[in-house]
This record gives sequence, C-alpha cells and structure tokens, in this order.
Amino acid sequence: MIILLLGSGGREHALAWKMLQSSKCTKLFVAPGNAGTATIASNVLINPTDFDAIKNFVLQEKVEMVVVGPEDPLVLGIYDFFKNDDNLFSIPVIGPSKEGAKLEGSKEYAKEFLIKHKIPTAAYDSFTAKTVENACKFLDTLSPPYVLKADGLAAGKGVVILNDLAAAKIELRNMLVHQKFGKASSKVVIEEFLDGIELSCFVLTDGKNYKILPTAKDYKRIGEGDTGLNTGGMGAVSPVPFADEILMEKIETRIVKPTIEGLQKDGIEYKGFVFIGLINVKGEPIVIEYNVRMGDPETEVVIPRIKSDLVELFLAVANEKLNEITLEIDQRSATTIMVVSGGYPEEFEKGKIISGFSAVKDSIVFHAGTKFENDTVVSNGGRVLTVTSYGNNFKEAIKKSYQNIEKLHFDKMYYRKDIGFDLL
Ligand code: AMP
Ligand code: GLY
Repeated sequence: MIILLLGSGGREHALAWKMLQSSKCTKLFVAPGNAGTATIASNVLINPTDFDAIKNFVLQEKVEMVVVGPEDPLVLGIYDFFKNDDNLFSIPVIGPSKEGAKLEGSKEYAKEFLIKHKIPTAAYDSFTAKTVENACKFLDTLSPPYVLKADGLAAGKGVVILNDLAAAKIELRNMLVHQKFGKASSKVVIEEFLDGIELSCFVLTDGKNYKILPTAKDYKRIGEGDTGLNTGGMGAVSPVPFADEILMEKIETRIVKPTIEGLQKDGIEYKGFVFIGLINVKGEPIVIEYNVRMGDPETEVVIPRIKSDLVELFLAVANEKLNEITLEIDQRSATTIMVVSGGYPEEFEKGKIISGFSAVKDSIVFHAGTKFENDTVVSNGGRVLTVTSYGNNFKEAIKKSYQNIEKLHFDKMYYRKDIGFDLL
C-alpha cells in the first residue's frame, strides 16, 4: 500500500524505518521529511498543515493511508478534513479527530476530561485575563512550587514552574495579560505540584480497543542532572525500569481503560496514538498531560521495541480490529541520545556538515533536523540526530549509543552525557 507520513523529525524517521519493514508498505512518502527519511523513502515538499496540498498529492499519487507524526495537523483537524471530503473519506488517517486532538490542544479541555472520567490528575483551576485577580488569590492558597500551564499549544514551552509566589504572580500576568505565549496563554491552568518521577505511557487505539506500547522516559532539560532550559527532549530510555507490573496494572486500570472508555462515552473518534504523561507519586500514577501523537525522542526507543508489523497495526486501527492483533515486544532495552546544535534551545547555527555515519556500528542513527545539501548531510535544526541502541539493560544500550556518538561529528555538536542517570 502507498503511505504518506507527515512530519520531519526523529520520530518520523523512526516511524518510516519501521513501516518500511512491512511487506504491506509498497511506497512511502514523507512530507516534508529530513535527510534520513530521504535515504529510505521519498520526501515531498509539503507542509503538514497545508491540507489542500496534501489532498492534491494524495489523489495524484493514489495514497492509501496517511500517518500523522506531529500534533499541529491533528489539532487543526486533518482527520475531519479527510472524513468530510467526498474524494478522501475512504483513506484512513492515523490520528485522532479534531475533538480528540483537543486533549493536547487545550490543557483545560484535558483537565475537564480527566475529572469527568475520574482519572487521577493534579488538582487545578483555570483562569483568563478577566479573572487574573482570582488566579492570584488561588495561588495564595497553594504551596510552592507553582505550576502554570498555558492552555493552548506553545511549542512545548507553555509550562512554567516557579518556587517563589511573587514571581509566579508576575509570570501569571505575563501569560494572561501580556500574552507571553500569544493566544495559547489567553487561558492558564494552575495546577497542584506533583512530587515524583516522570514516565510516559503510549497507547495505540482504534477508538474501542487499545494496545499499551512500551513505556519510556525522556530527558527534557538541556543540561546534565536535569538542569537548564527545557528542550523537545535530549534522550530516552525504554522500558522505564521502575514501571513494574504493579505500577503498570494501576496505569492500565486507573488511566488507560477509563481514557479509552471516556473517548467512547463522549463520542470522540480516535484512531491513533495517545501519549500519557505521568508522574509516579510514591507508587501512584497521576496524569500530568495527554499528547495525541507519539513523543520525540520517545518514538526512537518505543518503535524499535515493537516486533509486530506497524502497518498491520495501523490497518487494524483503521478497521477497528485492534483486538485481533497480538502485540509483540522486544524484551531488550532501547535507549536514544539526542545530538543537538550548540546553543539549542536558544540560538544556534544550521548548515553544519555532518560526518561519521559509516563508522557507526550496532546503533541506529535517526535523523531529526538534517537535510541534504549537494549530496552532503548538513544540520537543519536544533535537534539534529539521535542515536538508538539496544542492550540487555539500559546501561548496556546507553554505552553503545555513547560509543557511536563519538564517531559522529559536526561543528558545535552537543549532547547530554548522563541520560538514564536517575535510573541507576
Ligand atoms: P508539559 O509541557 O505538559 O510536558 O509539562 C512540562 C513539564 O512540567 C513536565 O514534563 C513535568 O516535568 C512538569 N510538570 C507538569 N505538570 C506538573 C505538575 N502538576 N507537577 C509537577 N511537575 C509538572
Ligand atoms: N519528548 C516530549 C514530547 O514529544 O512531547
């Protein structure tokens, strides 16, 4: 079958790599893709949010399935765009409907869904510019640290956690009144701080049935020891060693099941990934966020651990027959280390020549921000490459990734040398 994958990061390179292992995939297009996807599939210069251009391409190339990597096209309603178009309605889109994508597109919507379906989450209230004084009074009732979340999509920067009450009030005004994150912060969710260790649970659902995919933990801060600015993610480990059977049982019964049942009860069409961000508070899993897509770089460790045919899984999602598939998981650990441009997540340079790919042994290099320039791979973003390895445990896998990263080179490259430090 002819498949179009939307997106251009390490997540998409990993999804493309896995889909191409399926005998069911005869042709794979990636829009817009990167240098990594260009070497295994056909890149197409289309913006994932340009639905009319996607429509023309899909009809012209007789595409039979669309797999959506990033959240933007989902939040803008690509699922509904296909469903409501006379020429496209029979082509499955792997991703939720616009209503389902609100679980990521609006923090307030997600909180209301969680509360309604009695899924454990942090206590909260939400406010607008008009109710900013009430918001300040609400902060007075909480103890630090204070968690402020812009309601809408803010490129992963919309959550601010502050220890000082006065600073939290200033930040709150910046968000609500001075629109620090534009329209995304015209509403702010203030949430109880949860003290524990984070992990992510990934679920694939056809709206009725679900499969729990391997767990992963990512490392969001730029600096070692989880310090410095937030990034898209600097590395990931799967499985999460502390996610034992007891914790997974709690996650499934208290969180995954009620989430899928909640979608059904609310009549929300959802055929795609659910990424559930959790904090393990003394053995009790509590939801901090939903994303309606796979994580990046979590995909680069979760997908390599899936032994089952990914295209078959997607077909089962489209046909609401996920219950008929057995999910096979590789018991080994997988880890990935992200290599970024010096300066990221602030200012950085692009266009640096990357060398050393052929020296890499026993690891998979997934491209993130790269492109071809005169047949040479150059950097084209903040997060540039990610190196995934398998091992009998995560320490073994991490060691391999680091050995291979040393063979790769570009000017001002940087990576964290402590991924997994908190799991030892
Ligand atoms: P998000 O952008 O929703 O992924 O949130 C960014 C980060 O903020 C998360 O990865 C957590 O580390 C942290 N966070 C979010 N909500 C809470 C909370 N209620 N308590 C503690 N930390 C939180
Ligand atoms: N790595 C976090 C995310 O994809 O949202």
